[in-house]
Amino acid sequence: MDFIHPTANEYVTHFSNATPAYLKEMYAATLSNHPHAHLQSSWNQGGFLSFISKLIQPKYILEIGTFTGFSSLCLAEGLKEDGQLHTIELRAADAETAIGYFKTSPKSDQIIQHVGDAKSIIPTLPYLFDLAFIDADKTGYIEYYELLLPLMQSNGIIIADNVLFHGEVLEPNPAGKSAKAIQAFNEHLLKDISTEKVMLTIRDGLTLIRKKINI
Ligand SMILES: C[S@@+](CC[C@H](N)C(=O)[O-])C[C@H]1O[C@@H](n2cnc3c(N)ncnc32)[C@H](O)[C@@H]1O
Repeated sequence: MDFIHPTANEYVTHFSNATPAYLKEMYAATLSNHPHAHLQSSWNQGGFLSFISKLIQPKYILEIGTFTGFSSLCLAEGLKEDGQLHTIELRAADAETAIGYFKTSPKSDQIIQHVGDAKSIIPTLPYLFDLAFIDADKTGYIEYYELLLPLMQSNGIIIADNVLFHGEVLEPNPAGKSAKAIQAFNEHLLKDISTEKVMLTIRDGLTLIRKKINI
């Protein structure tokens, strides 16, 4: 269920053009064929990720939650020529699908798929990331954030998805564990003085988090 009105989503999508056009087929294939198609970022959110990546021109990108690879390929758009995007997916079948789509990318050699639990994989990555996207299980967000922070460059940007969780975070006591976890994550972020953040009402809510240079 979308929190932002579907007509508003259609409108903003119509007036945006930052999503890589070559992704149309893979995006549509996931929507039509995958039983959990709703997990895929929206077309326009993909454009936003691509736009931010082109602004930052990151050397190293980390994505937590590949699914079938749409957001990975959007994030890869701004990679430096010698850069790498590392993306982590728990479900082997989805990672396999993503690897197939990555082969269609002009940056295929720069995309590294990790398969397994992000909580154990993140600490093994010997990189400093300029850009990261948190989009896996909502109950893990605080842990992902804390694992990521020391691996982020100063001024590096973390983007966290689903921070409005279908609007359920607006309720004082939401029933679902994911909504509760996102509420706790949003509170956790607010208290952290080492980062600056702005929450945006794009699709299901995105928070942009910048690691401060000096705290
Ligand atoms: C919302 S989907 C990601 C959507 C994708 N980023 C996109 O925009 O198209 C979340 C993904 O995180 C994966 N996931 C869940 N728990 C995980 C974990 N502990 N480690 C790695 N991936 C996980 C799920 O299998 C699922 O494919």
